[in-house]
Amino acid sequence: MPAREIKTNIFSVGAIDWDRRLFDELIPLPEGTSYNAYLIKGTDKTALLDSVDPAKESELISNLKELEVGKIDYVICHHAEQDHSGTIPKILELYPQAKVVTNQKCKEMLKDLLLIPDNRFIEVKDRETISLGDKTLDFILAPWVHWPETMLTYLKEDKILFPCDLFGSHLATSDLYVTDEPLVYRSAKRYYAEIMMPFRTSIKKHIEKIKDLPIEIIAPSHGPAYPKPSFIMDAYKDWISDDVKNEVLIPYVSMHGSTKKMVDYFTEALIKRNISVKPFNLTKTDIGELAMALVDAATIVIGSPTVLVGPHPAALYATYLTNALRPKAKFASLIGSYGWGGKMAEQITGMLTNLKVEVIEPVIIRGFPKETDFKALDRLADSILQKHRQLNG
Ligand SMILES: Cc1cc2nc3c(=O)[nH]c(=O)nc-3n(C[C@H](O)[C@H](O)[C@H](O)COP(=O)(O)O)c2cc1C
Repeated sequence: MPAREIKTNIFSVGAIDWDRRLFDELIPLPEGTSYNAYLIKGTDKTALLDSVDPAKESELISNLKELEVGKIDYVICHHAEQDHSGTIPKILELYPQAKVVTNQKCKEMLKDLLLIPDNRFIEVKDRETISLGDKTLDFILAPWVHWPETMLTYLKEDKILFPCDLFGSHLATSDLYVTDEPLVYRSAKRYYAEIMMPFRTSIKKHIEKIKDLPIEIIAPSHGPAYPKPSFIMDAYKDWISDDVKNEVLIPYVSMHGSTKKMVDYFTEALIKRNISVKPFNLTKTDIGELAMALVDAATIVIGSPTVLVGPHPAALYATYLTNALRPKAKFASLIGSYGWGGKMAEQITGMLTNLKVEVIEPVIIRGFPKETDFKALDRLADSILQKHRQLNG
């Protein structure tokens, strides 16, 4: 992407990755992504805020050339993960006078991950500032969004917050600023669900810390910038709140149709009770969609057959992921089928240790569901209805 001016002497110099479809060899990227880096030219000094993924190194360098950047004094590193830090060694090589400005934790990580020597760093503490002449960088330490070393920069005179991954979205778009709010909302929610949700408590504290700053633009490191900060701040406030929706999420797998029949019946039973329901066939679903649904659902019901004594591996993976993402769900249960015996229910419920959920009595049946099994599913749906009513009552 070409360099573009955000405000006088502040440029977006990063790269768009239109074709990338997988991040961290884990997260699907249906809409690609971008690695945003920003150049700030002050009257005395010039700072580069973050770099780009090493695969896009040439784009960052050509943008700096296009802007005729003869010197960089400071490379601000908000986060040591390589999609933002990976091109810093190249920048240090091209600009020998440049120093990496970051906090102590991030410095140690950059030394380990990118082998940057100790003498290339300037260490900053929370709310320390650096002057570029007419522009001041105010560093706000914000650990655990989503690594322990993360920090944000507030550019005082221009009222721009550079939060790196926080508030970001995996979205390849030529829009420098958000234009299509519903599209960005979905991408930002997916990003929150996959990357930020486990750190809900830390994010609450950081949002509290920045809430009184006059912010006119939020410029994250992935996706377009927010010219209306309240759009993303309000969305985050909703996602990190303890409020849940009258919604049941059913990640399931079925080999020969028994569990599937239970899921179909149960889905209808919930709809009849005016409960929103999202069944996810784990062999077909994109795990990002599942993560997004986990942001709001009050209840998670996992569906699995018994395989070699335990749950089906696809259900095991979904349960592991759900537990790791720490959604705010209040209730969990399990439905599924077995042939002769096993420990499927104990294994699944035993994995949900990070969640503060009440486990509602599972419905585990032998073989294909029969009339009595459908009645048991109706009772489970009744029980969920009652629990959801109590939440709202
Ligand atoms: C590879 C394989 C392994 C299985 N292992 C077990 C087992 O250890 N214990 C058990 O009770 N049933 C076992 N079963 C039987 C299934 O759990 C049973 O057929 C169930 O009804 C399948 O549900 P589904 O139609 O939703 O796939 C196994 C089935 C398969 C295909």
